[in-house]
Amino acid sequence: MLTPYSVNVTSFGDALNSLDIIIDAFKSKGLLVIKGHRFSQDEQIALTEAMGDVLDWNFHTGTADITDDASSPRSAIYPGGHSDQENRDYSTQGKDDYVLDWHIEQVFYVDPILAGVWNMTLFTADRGNGNTRFVDSTVLYSMLSTDDQEFLDQAVVKWEKPMGSGTGPFYTKVVDIHPVTSDKTLRVETDHGCYVMPHLVQWAGSEPTAEQVSRYDKLWEWLKSQLNTNEDIRHVQEWQEADLLVVDLFRMYHSVMGGFKFGERQFTGIGVRPRNATSELYLELGAL
Ligand SMILES: [Fe+2]
Repeated sequence: MLTPYSVNVTSFGDALNSLDIIIDAFKSKGLLVIKGHRFSQDEQIALTEAMGDVLDWNFHTGTADITDDASSPRSAIYPGGHSDQENRDYSTQGKDDYVLDWHIEQVFYVDPILAGVWNMTLFTADRGNGNTRFVDSTVLYSMLSTDDQEFLDQAVVKWEKPMGSGTGPFYTKVVDIHPVTSDKTLRVETDHGCYVMPHLVQWAGSEPTAEQVSRYDKLWEWLKSQLNTNEDIRHVQEWQEADLLVVDLFRMYHSVMGGFKFGERQFTGIGVRPRNATSELYLELGAL
């Protein structure tokens, strides 16, 4: 088990002074947690904007201060924490049960979410409960044989999942190029919340053979099994109140574990996209 790279700061100003360290960690590791200062929402936004100036995000210091317009980057500031449903019985899921299954974030966008900045504003569950798990998809890709890598490089899948304006179907590449590192990145959804799981619909521009379909299915099972069982590649964030986690959501599969009650786990999240991002979806093969 791995833990997220930790950056300790003494104040908001200190965090801004540590921007180079934070950005280097984001680029090289894809995951870090900033500790030692309780960020207000304005400070969380300001840090995100400072990162966005360097990383070319739609959150940057020129971002207009509008939250009620869906096209504004600021509409991507959201409350989270998975402890906010008053009528849910939280006692059924313990710290080893998945509250939110393994997924890679919103692959259906042409301009995908690049990062999450998650501020755990309140956390009163016992430490080790409500963990978030992460696995780096570029590491998963590097574990495949060259043959399997070359096979998946040519694979396109079709799948359906609920999102704001519909369920797809979406057509997406299994392997995409990371926008920052240029590493090959597995980008196939594994979340059981999918109405239709991603299945091979095209290989090297043509309809796949039965053999290719079955090869893809086995590799997808391997991926799911790595996420569920391989602790050597798993990063575990054991939350403490005031942790500010920055995660590369292009490359990090993640999941949420139980063991908390109503209201015990509250965070403010920010999702960032490329500068000038559109809200276009991969709704047809031609969009790839
Ligand atoms: Fe997520």
